[in-house]
Amino acid sequence: MSELLTDIEAIRAQFPILTREVNGKPLVYLDNGATSQKPQSVIDAVKHYYEYENSNIHRGVHTLSQEATAAYEDVRKKVQKFINAKHDHEIIFTSGTTGGINLVASSFGASLVRRGDEILITAMEHHSNIVPWQMLCERRGAQLKVLPISKEGEIDIEEYKKLIGPKTELISLVHVSNSLGTINPIKEMIAIAHAQNIPVMIDGAQAIHHTPVDVQELDADFYVFSAHKMYGPTGVGVLYGKEELLNDMPPYQGGGDMIKSVTFEKTTYNELPHKFEAGTPNIAGGIGLGAGIDFINSIGFDFIQAHEAELSRFAVSQLRDIKGLRFIGTAKERAGLVSFVLDGIHPYDTGVILDKLGIAVRTGHHCTQPVMNFFEVPGTVRASFAVYNTKQEVVKLVEGIDRVKRMF
Ligand code: ALA
Repeated sequence: MSELLTDIEAIRAQFPILTREVNGKPLVYLDNGATSQKPQSVIDAVKHYYEYENSNIHRGVHTLSQEATAAYEDVRKKVQKFINAKHDHEIIFTSGTTGGINLVASSFGASLVRRGDEILITAMEHHSNIVPWQMLCERRGAQLKVLPISKEGEIDIEEYKKLIGPKTELISLVHVSNSLGTINPIKEMIAIAHAQNIPVMIDGAQAIHHTPVDVQELDADFYVFSAHKMYGPTGVGVLYGKEELLNDMPPYQGGGDMIKSVTFEKTTYNELPHKFEAGTPNIAGGIGLGAGIDFINSIGFDFIQAHEAELSRFAVSQLRDIKGLRFIGTAKERAGLVSFVLDGIHPYDTGVILDKLGIAVRTGHHCTQPVMNFFEVPGTVRASFAVYNTKQEVVKLVEGIDRVKRMF
C-alpha cells in the first residue's frame, strides 16, 4: 500500500475550490454536513468518463459501453470492500440516502408492513428518515413510533427496549445525527432488535465519511449513504441490504435493466442488484463515488477520525467561553460538528454575517424540525468539519461569531 496522506496542506492542495475567495476573503468551508468539497481526483474521474468513456452501461457490445460498464461495476466492488458487505450484489446504487430510504420504505414496506404494525425511529432523525415512514404508515395503516432523546441529544437504551414490541416490523435509525452530532450505539441497538427478529435500517449519511463502517460486524440489515458527503458527486448513493432481504423485496421502480424478460402478459425481474436499478443510472456519479472512496482510502480513517475529533474538541473549547452561546447537542459520543445558538440572535443573521467574512456554515433546522422543536429553538448554527479543515479556520469562525455579537 502506498503511503497515507496525512499532511493537511497536501490534502487541501487537492481541492481546487479551497483556494477561492468568498466576499473578498479566503473561503472557510464549514458546511461539510450538507456536502463536502471535491478533490481534483473526483472531478477528473467524472470528466474522464465524459471525455473518453461516455456511453450507456449494461447495454452495449461496443467498446465504450464495455469500458463504462466495467468502470461502474468496479465501483460496486469498491463499495462492497469499503463497507465490508458479503456480496457485491448487496450494493444497490441509488440517487442518495433519501433515495435509499424511500426504496426500502416503498418496497419492504409494501410487502411486509400491515395494518397495525409499527415502525420505530428516533426523535433525532433527518426528515428523510421520518417522512417516507409516515407516508408508508398512512398507506398501510401502520403506526410510527418515536424514541425520545435527552437534553444532551442522546437516546436511552432502556427506553428503546421498551418501545420494541411484537408489532414492530422495522427500526430505522440515524448513525450520526446531522444536527446534534450524536453518534448512536447502533451495534448494540441492532443486536437488541435482532433478539426479537426485527430488521434494522441505518441512515449512515453523516457517518460514512467520518468512521469506518463494517456492515457485517454491525449486522445491519440495510445501510444507506450518499456519495456527495464523502468527497464524491451529488445525485448518487448506496443502499446496502442483506441479500436475503433484498431478494424477498419486490422491485421499487419498473423500467429498463430491472427486468429479465417482458411480455404484455408477464414480466420477470432481474437478479440483484439490477432488480432495484431501473433506468439509466448516474454513471458519471457512480464513477466519481469510486474516486471519493479512493480519496478517503488514501488518507485512512485513523487520521480522518483523529483530525476531525481534534477539530471538534478545539471548536468546543474555543466556543464554550463565548457569552450567550449555547450548544445544541452535547452527547458524550459525537462526530465532527458543533451546533449552537446565540442568545437573541437568529441563526440566519449569524449565517449571513459569517458569509460576508467568507465563512460557510449551515443555519436553520437542518431538515430536523422535530429536533429544533424539542430544544425550542428556531434553528441552530452548525459548523461541520471535513478532513481538510484546520484549527486556523476554527479560530476564524470564533472571531466571526465575536463580530456577529458585536454587531447585535
Ligand atoms: N442533510 C444535510 C445536512 O445536514 C443536507 O446539511
